[in-house]
Amino acid sequence: MWQNQLIRMVSPIRERGVMMSEGNRCPETVFSFHIPSDVVFGDGEVERLPGIIRGLGSHHPLVLTGRTLCRTEVFRSIRGILDSSGIRYGVYDRIEPEPPVESVGAAVDLARSGGHDLMIGVGGGSTMDFTKAAAVIAPGEMDILDLVGRDRIIRKGLPTIMIPTTSGSGSEVSPVAIFTFAEEKVKKGIVSPHITPDAAIVDPELTHGLPPRVTADTGMDALIHAVESFLSVNANLLSETLSLAAVGHIAGSLEKAVKNGRDAAARRMMSLGSLMAGMAFAMAGTAAVHALAYPLGGEFHVPHGAANTVMLRQVMEFNLEGNSVKFARLARSMSDDAENIPDTDAAFLSIDRMTELARNIGVVTRIRDLGVPVSAIPGMAEAASKETRLLSNNPRPMNKKQIEEIYRKAW
Ligand SMILES: [Fe+2]
Repeated sequence: MWQNQLIRMVSPIRERGVMMSEGNRCPETVFSFHIPSDVVFGDGEVERLPGIIRGLGSHHPLVLTGRTLCRTEVFRSIRGILDSSGIRYGVYDRIEPEPPVESVGAAVDLARSGGHDLMIGVGGGSTMDFTKAAAVIAPGEMDILDLVGRDRIIRKGLPTIMIPTTSGSGSEVSPVAIFTFAEEKVKKGIVSPHITPDAAIVDPELTHGLPPRVTADTGMDALIHAVESFLSVNANLLSETLSLAAVGHIAGSLEKAVKNGRDAAARRMMSLGSLMAGMAFAMAGTAAVHALAYPLGGEFHVPHGAANTVMLRQVMEFNLEGNSVKFARLARSMSDDAENIPDTDAAFLSIDRMTELARNIGVVTRIRDLGVPVSAIPGMAEAASKETRLLSNNPRPMNKKQIEEIYRKAW
């Protein structure tokens, strides 16, 4: 009886040709995930911040933000909400873009000396990642360098609330924090369910004032999260559903949001797509596009979304082998033109559509256009080949020689 129910439940997957392991245990229907317990989405919903702070038992939060954002109307409006709530709070406003790992110490010192009991990250991925690391270190004696890697954290830190002001990183719902290691010229991640935020407030109105360049770069990052999590060997039925919907939302709204930042409907769909992509990669991870993009960020300080975009086409073409059915599904979530054509044609169309979208919004698609010399390729291939956390998610294994070839084709 139970067996029959299980077989009925997985039969659509059998039809899609997914391999079943012994005992009918289908890897796509076995998963666990960890996201914030409180995710609030909607225009104007940032007004709910004081209630969420109180709900987490905090009396004295620390708000963390970047040097640029702290001077904007968005940040002033959040301060206004807190001021009128009567909550006593502190501000740390010195976070750099793509922050070096050692910079977290100053915020931790402020949190400790000020007796803060919760951290609120207001900004893009860099600010939210910084906030996650500061919150986990603040209550104890841990050194941030000991936390780098997967599952190196043994307990939760201060509670956190994330308020993204871009539609890109998905960091508000992910267990990942990425830092630049200047001496090694690389980026590395801290990955642990203990840094997943306690609450996320995704208010699309906060993104209306983003400049077109930032909208474009961060939007491409969100698209690539959706695509890479969909193709990941660790994807499951839930993450795939989120990934595909995110691809559709982002492909349908990114160009509009870049061309008119005040297009509320486009901003809403970008925020939703970015959130869904973040939930998907919190489960399935990202893969080789991110792995090969990190050396461009670590050594040449290329913004994260732009670095991902120059690697996208060549990594996708490499991954196509053996995966055309999934690529065709990607194409169909982006474009009606892919509906009535064979899977192999649709698969190539998916790659063309992504490249086209990047060009339409002015994000460069070749490494040479970023000012990175061709002589840097062997070093970048060496660094990228060490990103095993990401490469192990890739649908097709990739060795150092293949990575170098991909860089050359993408240059
Ligand atoms: Fe990313």
